[in-house]
Amino acid sequence: SDADERKVRMLMFGKPGAGKGTLTSRLAQKYDILTLSTGDLLRQHINERTEVGKEAEAIIARGELVPDEVVIKVVTSKLEGLQNKHWILDGFPRTQRQGELLDAHLQKRNTPLTLIVNLDVADEVILGRISDRWVHLPSGRVYNMSYNRPRVEGFDDQTGEPLTKRPDDNPETFARRLQKFYSATSPLLDYYATAASSEPTGPNHQHPHQVAFHRPSGLRLKTLSGATSDEIWPQLDQLLQNTFPGLRERAGMKV
Ligand code: AP5
Repeated sequence: SDADERKVRMLMFGKPGAGKGTLTSRLAQKYDILTLSTGDLLRQHINERTEVGKEAEAIIARGELVPDEVVIKVVTSKLEGLQNKHWILDGFPRTQRQGELLDAHLQKRNTPLTLIVNLDVADEVILGRISDRWVHLPSGRVYNMSYNRPRVEGFDDQTGEPLTKRPDDNPETFARRLQKFYSATSPLLDYYATAASSEPTGPNHQHPHQVAFHRPSGLRLKTLSGATSDEIWPQLDQLLQNTFPGLRERAGMKV
């Protein structure tokens, strides 16, 4: 049926440190879904000392957003690789302009977004997590000394390579990232909320005078809230199963 063939074309939306990376990779481990994280991509560029990396390094360390042109340059070629697949974008789009660009890209290919998940976690909760976070740079795998510890302290579970701290994970920089989220990124959620509520399921009561961007119906926007470790995961997994009944679990799980 149509429902069985629905593709996961999803945005993982939420504040810095809300758990986007953690939950996105859990989904990708369980299901055959590709993921694209602009934060991970930019950190890889920095690590490899590319032109983009040199430009992005100081900006990220300050907690500012990398200019749209730069992000768009690194993302565009990657988006091509997602065609006809199930996918999740983590950390993109982050500005109105990036959102419009993504829309144009997807519309041209007739592959509209099907799900937007908004992770809603309180600022105080997030602030507490950041100082405990460790990352495996090449894969983007995230650990937390109080929530999901690596098997061997300081090393990645899968490769055994060393974990590092992110230079933007200190309280001052984090405050700036949170500020940027409220000023530049959260308005994007209203934009998508309008699109999702313009489905032909009923009139758009929330924004009766706003003309919605034209989108084929079927875009779902769901806010998931929770503070403690495993509150959000079961909600998210259930949401994916309900929204995409044809989604299969990965056959041979990697060790
Ligand atoms: P990016 O890497 O995207 O950072 P972010 O949005 O700030 O998000 P984080 O990676 O900090 O957090 P997350 O939500 O993935 O949380 P995580 O799973 O790690 O971007 C970094 C920078 O790059 C930006 O500041 C910007 O400069 C630039 N950039 C990126 N994309 C851009 C774009 N499109 N345009 C312009 N600039 C861009 O979890 C956080 C911690 O909490 C971890 O320690 C984790 O283990 C722990 N945790 C997760 N879930 C739970 C839980 N349920 N309970 C307890 N602990 C948990």
